[in-house]
Amino acid sequence: MKTDTPPTIYLKDYTAPAYLVDTVDLDFVIATGATTVSATLAMRRNPAVAAQPLVLDGEELETLSVAVDGEKVPFSTTPTTLTIADLPDAFTLHTVVRIDPDRNTRLSGLYRSKDGYFTQCEAQGFRRITWFLDRPDVMSTYTVTLHADKATYPVLLANGNPVASGEEADGRHWATWNDPFRKPAYLFALVAGKLDGLFDTFQTASGRSVQLAIYVEPGKLDQCPHAMAALQKSMKWDEERFGLECDLDHYMIVAVGDFNMGAMENKGLNIFNTKYVLARADVATDVDFENIDRVVAHEYFHNWTGNRVTCRDWFQLSLKEGLTVFRDQEFGADLHNRQTARIREVRGLRAAQFPEDAGPMAHPIRPASFVEINNFYTSTVYEKGAEVIRMIQTLIGRDGFRAGMDEYFRRHDGQAVTCEDFVAAMAAASGFDFTQFMRWYNQPGTPHLAVDSVFEAKTGRYTLHIKQSNPRASDNHPYLIPIRIALFDAGGQIIAGSDRTLLLTENSQQFHFDGIAAEPVPSLLRDFSAPVVLDYAYTPQQLTLLLAHESDPFNAWEAGQRLASTLILDATAAIAAGQAPVWPASFVDAARRLLQTQAERGAAFVAEALTLPGESTLAEALDIVDPDALHAARNSLRRHLAEQLEGEFAGLYAGLAPHGAYTPSSEEAGRRALRNTCLAYLLELNTPAVRQLALQQFRSADNMTDQFAALAALAQTECTERETALAEFYQRWQHEALVVDKWLAVQSGSRLPDTLATVKRLTGHPAFDIGNPNKVYALLRNFGANLARFHTPAGYAFLAEQTQLLDGKNPQVASRLARCFDRWKKFDGERQKHARLALESIRDHQGLSRDVLEIVNRALG
Ligand code: TRP
Ligand code: ZN
Repeated sequence: MKTDTPPTIYLKDYTAPAYLVDTVDLDFVIATGATTVSATLAMRRNPAVAAQPLVLDGEELETLSVAVDGEKVPFSTTPTTLTIADLPDAFTLHTVVRIDPDRNTRLSGLYRSKDGYFTQCEAQGFRRITWFLDRPDVMSTYTVTLHADKATYPVLLANGNPVASGEEADGRHWATWNDPFRKPAYLFALVAGKLDGLFDTFQTASGRSVQLAIYVEPGKLDQCPHAMAALQKSMKWDEERFGLECDLDHYMIVAVGDFNMGAMENKGLNIFNTKYVLARADVATDVDFENIDRVVAHEYFHNWTGNRVTCRDWFQLSLKEGLTVFRDQEFGADLHNRQTARIREVRGLRAAQFPEDAGPMAHPIRPASFVEINNFYTSTVYEKGAEVIRMIQTLIGRDGFRAGMDEYFRRHDGQAVTCEDFVAAMAAASGFDFTQFMRWYNQPGTPHLAVDSVFEAKTGRYTLHIKQSNPRASDNHPYLIPIRIALFDAGGQIIAGSDRTLLLTENSQQFHFDGIAAEPVPSLLRDFSAPVVLDYAYTPQQLTLLLAHESDPFNAWEAGQRLASTLILDATAAIAAGQAPVWPASFVDAARRLLQTQAERGAAFVAEALTLPGESTLAEALDIVDPDALHAARNSLRRHLAEQLEGEFAGLYAGLAPHGAYTPSSEEAGRRALRNTCLAYLLELNTPAVRQLALQQFRSADNMTDQFAALAALAQTECTERETALAEFYQRWQHEALVVDKWLAVQSGSRLPDTLATVKRLTGHPAFDIGNPNKVYALLRNFGANLARFHTPAGYAFLAEQTQLLDGKNPQVASRLARCFDRWKKFDGERQKHARLALESIRDHQGLSRDVLEIVNRALG
């Protein structure tokens, strides 16, 4: 039986709220099995909007009473609305509802986790707590009182500043908090739990002192110092780079193990997935440490870009997310390694956002419509959104961008605004005309650039002819695209004056360079100056030259990726046709030279350059994907490199051995990355000696980076050392939930042919819990991203079944799992037949959430 079609919401239908809420007083009586929420709202009609009944949002609320100005009033309800007619221009609304956080498996609204009660209100979770105008353009100041059992829930927190607290009968206690800043309901938070706290302070540039606290599960305080340091660094960075100072007296972070996403920027009371807080060298990898820096910074930066200035409506989500991702990327680049940061950003964009933008969920960074807003917390809104902000900075320069930010806050502090408002501030501060640029906000799809070049020796003129197109867009108007370029001479030097930013504004446009002595090698789209696919008929010799000499690390890396992609895609076709792949010696030579430049270019860069493009990225370049052939081709190139460069890999592995105890510095992290890349290549040889080497590193490592790298490499190879390492790892870490996630992910992501059977078996293992999003992401979604192992009839049927099972508990996470099917139409007819059946079986499931229904309908569409 099919579920009814849920309504679609359109940006064009936006209207201002008919009522405003000036102050909110909330009283929570928390008890097992039921929490009572009393709300007192000081409300008034919005004078700008015609008189109409008040319609409040609610979900799964048991309404106990409703009063206006102290009197009971008539009202009507549906499961999701409460309507009151005939209201005065200003009034006090008092409601009392009962909710059941203990049975809230959606992890939206108020819910129970192991150590207490937590909230998640973005985007529309507040309506699961009390009747409200749950929309971001309704901003209020909040006073919140919590009552709970003192022994079980000693810590009682809400946004803002503590006002008062005390004891009550039966071993209970209470606390009142006040948040002086007006905020939308999605930034509301409370926590009642048994938690340990790490405390510190931060002195702002103007000399105010901010009390900092990180609350975690008891016993985990020794995993908090890194997050605390990250918070302090973020606060300093935002003062220095953007002149933005913390406005709060108290800034709290609470970590919870059950959380749908990464973290949440609730005003003064961030709630984090433990994954982005807890770290100690023996349990967290270098990548984990960096991710924590970035996510802590991200949520802190939201205090200005998101909280002080918020979104008018949810279509504007990229206003805060794209901008805040850009800010956390810049912070990460300044803190660690700018070169490899950019490479990793683009690698991530190509692995997730480009496929999204080419598939059934393609949408502009500002969508025009949605069924379920939670489905639009996507890599398009976040990562492509950040690329769009980065292009604005490229177009007007760093100083212009800073002036634009200043102007944005001068105009809009305290307001709920649109993407146009942001761009208008940038335009006003810089004088740049962004009219054409707005297309980036309004069209889906990745623009493609086709570049040709002509060199006339007689005149010394070099011409680049650039054409742009975007078949996914609704019309063929051109984008404004900044293209950073430089021309290289045959010796690998930049030709003087050729380093510039071209502004592509037409569908087809020519750019001339005069006074060029000999045909140059163009380095196009340096630093990835726009999120586009660029085609140019590079010769292998030109790419080899750029890989060796390009001073822009991104484009040096890019040259290597282009070389490898061409080879792997050609080999894929060969393998599909029953032929053996051929690997040219020139590629091996280029890789060898790369290994020798480790000292000058940095180990981190070399590790990135030696990492072949991923299968999902490569698949996007094919019309019909044969995942087995693609997988075989990529593996064959890895093995070929290992055979040809065995001595070099082994030498570097030995040479990069740690020279002391672990330190998390980016320099040391780079050495570890390269050394572990060498180890993984060596394991392609699958000799007993190399397997022993890996097992030995696994056992002797004093840090999770090296231990996990050895495990991950072994997990790709069928051998007894693999089983030994997996068993020892679980034995040692079974009580560290985040490490168990790594153990699950390393198995679900394995290329071994029996991976599906392993994943099925692990769904019944005590380590797995379908109610915990981290476990679902580690085991199930990671399997869905395993190109060769997921895309089989049995793989499709399995994930369809798991999606249905999960949908009954947590639709937000189920719909993220359903996204694994996005690219089903790129596979061959037989696979498509089974994918369609799997999708239809999900769609026809009775009572399916609108979250999953929207994804599946689009996929089948
Ligand atoms: N605003 C959060 C962030 O990017 C995202 C987020 C956290 C979220 N939890 C969520 C979005 C739950 C939707 C649902 O920092
Ligand atoms: Zn965010």
